[in-house]
Amino acid sequence: MKAVVYTRYGSPDVLRFTDVERPAPKDKEVLVKVHAVSLNASDWEMLRGKPLYSRIAGPFRPRHHILGSDIAGRVAATGRSTTLFQPGDEVFADILSSMGGLAEYVSVPESALARKPADMSYEEAAALPQAGAIALQGIRDRGHVRPEQKVLINGAGGGSGAYAVQLAKLHGAEVTGVDNAEKLEFMRSLGADHVIDYTREDFTKNGRTYDLILDLAAHRSAFAYPGSLLPGGRYLYVGGSVATLLQVLLIGPVIGRSAGKKIRLLAVRLGAQHVTPIVELHQAGKIATVIDRRYRLSEVSEALRYLGEGHAKGKVVVIVE
Ligand SMILES: NC(=O)c1ccc[n+]([C@@H]2O[C@H](COP(=O)([O-])OP(=O)(O)OC[C@H]3O[C@@H](n4cnc5c(N)ncnc54)[C@H](OP(=O)(O)O)[C@@H]3O)[C@@H](O)[C@H]2O)c1
Repeated sequence: MKAVVYTRYGSPDVLRFTDVERPAPKDKEVLVKVHAVSLNASDWEMLRGKPLYSRIAGPFRPRHHILGSDIAGRVAATGRSTTLFQPGDEVFADILSSMGGLAEYVSVPESALARKPADMSYEEAAALPQAGAIALQGIRDRGHVRPEQKVLINGAGGGSGAYAVQLAKLHGAEVTGVDNAEKLEFMRSLGADHVIDYTREDFTKNGRTYDLILDLAAHRSAFAYPGSLLPGGRYLYVGGSVATLLQVLLIGPVIGRSAGKKIRLLAVRLGAQHVTPIVELHQAGKIATVIDRRYRLSEVSEALRYLGEGHAKGKVVVIVE
């Protein structure tokens, strides 16, 4: 089968579009014929091996040689002990822990798969899992956003941010989106009430305060956030620098408690059951998927470069023919 392979960390130039052996499903796995894969910042990070947390599985060389975690496709074969799916079923999943989606076929644990609604396209189904789970857990489950609260989303113009802005508005919040100048109009079009260009203004230094800061691109000291939170407010780290992650984990709870606020990591729970609620919102027309660009499997280097250089407004999807 065709796949996009890499064996060392580096720029998109280290990726090769080549022939590899088609995987065989293990007992509890399902072989999926991939139709669409959406790219996430985690693919970019695992390609480059930066930040350091992206090297957890392979400190010196990538452990998984095929990137791609958000897949949608059709069941091609099932392992001996699977019970839930049949060949031909339309499915989708986030397979962040095993990757392998940027290929014509991928073997996926049955437990990770969700059924694709018939009226949802493969592209939409591939776009939703990781970004949707981050948004739902960040805004609703851990963010506990309520009507009229003030919410700031840092990195709001990217894949997860686009869903998070819409969800926060759905919960009745007043939303501020932070991203680069190219994405200000895009954030407004998603519903953001206020937008900030992070290259011109530091939201931690402008005197404004929020009930929730959802940080998809964290790089400040953990001490920078309490001053931007309202009493009882919370800051959730989703992705960004390892230095900020360590500070949030080690001293965040202490800094937060002393100020009557919460400074925490959002460890996103992945899996079929966590994707279902966001799919329901999507199918009810309450949130929309914005696909910025589509690429072919042979064009993954270009697609990842576009995402990694920060141009993508919403999702970038690879169509596997
Ligand atoms: N915690 C967990 O369990 C978990 C699970 C999965 C993924 N993640 C993480 O979630 C993060 C977000 O993923 P995503 O797919 O939504 O990323 P994405 O699509 O790349 O979006 C991130 C956005 O942040 C912007 N940005 C970059 N630097 C910024 C800054 N200093 N201030 C404000 N905005 C900035 C980017 O734009 P520009 O680069 O153009 O400026 C981009 O629009 C990733 O870091 C990923 O590793 C976390």
